[in-house]
Amino acid sequence: MSDLIHATSVIATKRDGAELTTPQIDWVVDAYTRGDVAPEQMSSLLMAIVLRGMTRREIDDWTRAMIDSGTRMDFSGLRRGGAVLPTVDKHSTGGVGDKITLPLAPVVASFGVAVPQLSGRGLGHTGGTLDKRADLTTAEMHAQLENVGAVICAAGADLAPADRKLYALRDVTGTVESVPLIASSIMSKKIAEGTGALVLDVKVGSGAFLPDEALARQLAQTMVSLGVDAGVRTTALLTDMDSPLGLTAGNAVEVAESLEVLAGGGPSDVVELTIALAREMLDAAGVLDADPAAALADGSAMDTWRAMITAQGGDPDAPLPRAPHTDDVTAQTSGYVHRIDARAVGDAAWLLGAGRSRPGEAVQASAGVVMHAKPGDRISAGSPLFTLHTQTPERFDAARARLDEAAVILPDSPSAIRPIVLDRIG
Ligand code: URA
Repeated sequence: MSDLIHATSVIATKRDGAELTTPQIDWVVDAYTRGDVAPEQMSSLLMAIVLRGMTRREIDDWTRAMIDSGTRMDFSGLRRGGAVLPTVDKHSTGGVGDKITLPLAPVVASFGVAVPQLSGRGLGHTGGTLDKRADLTTAEMHAQLENVGAVICAAGADLAPADRKLYALRDVTGTVESVPLIASSIMSKKIAEGTGALVLDVKVGSGAFLPDEALARQLAQTMVSLGVDAGVRTTALLTDMDSPLGLTAGNAVEVAESLEVLAGGGPSDVVELTIALAREMLDAAGVLDADPAAALADGSAMDTWRAMITAQGGDPDAPLPRAPHTDDVTAQTSGYVHRIDARAVGDAAWLLGAGRSRPGEAVQASAGVVMHAKPGDRISAGSPLFTLHTQTPERFDAARARLDEAAVILPDSPSAIRPIVLDRIG
């Protein structure tokens, strides 16, 4: 340990509202990753960061220290037909029913761009049996990017390991909701991954990590400048997550909806966001005049999807798991849907078994919520609003209770529906 720097002095610096120095940040991130700073000390520092914030210089240093805790990947050697393959990735800050990665990666790859979509563990397993192999070696990943163009797999253990350890601690210490901590967490992984360009989908609304629009905007601006300063062409879309995306939230039900989009159909908000993000990614990769809507309509995105699933050891024709138990939640009044609370739907899907309540717990591939109406739709009293899917019907009561006030139905049609893309930053 340095003679001058120790955990309590670093904690006290931030607790008292001063700036952490570069050596303090380097030391504490490295020492925590090696196990020389105890979790209770790091929890205390994280809470001080949540409450006191960080300057842009501190965020830069914290991000770099997390990148330096592992190894950087390098996709600059990717070639197809002798030509350099541009790489572009997308990262979403996460939300309810956000299955966009599944149609988006093949759409973009169908234009001859490499999409290395390294997801977190939870996300990496979205897709259940379709996503047979989430753990690819770097050589396998490179080969798949050169041959197919898209890969969706779990990030290796050596990609920003400090973030992996810090994220697990933040999850159980109430220290997730902080712009400096979220921005450095996401961007350390994306910069270490070595993508040439990056498009960020920053969610706003009840189902987002940061529901408040001003904070989400600040997060987007911070991440874009971290990316640009690191030499990654980075832009962000600020998108609505007040209502769930599409009509499904869960695992297999979301994969089924993604397949509808790849087949040229699917809910209009999912299609619109897929196309908007694809346009941003293709622009960032230098592919001009591309028409992502045409790639969905003419089957070329679906062909790339099938090749990607096959390359990862899956069977694109395998039937998706179906829940043995379903139950309908019906509308209590007739009228127009004004709002469906994304957070309530996400919680209900989780209560039905789609998410984990303990680390390592198995998720139910078939659990989730299917919605039958979106904001703006007319609905009659007694008709189904949600269908709940689960393997364990004893979970229905809790999920129904959570959805009790999830939908706002009023007699008059809403004067305006929030657009899916709220703004572009970068
Ligand atoms: N996603 C991340 O990778 N990190 C965060 O802190 C929040 C969302």
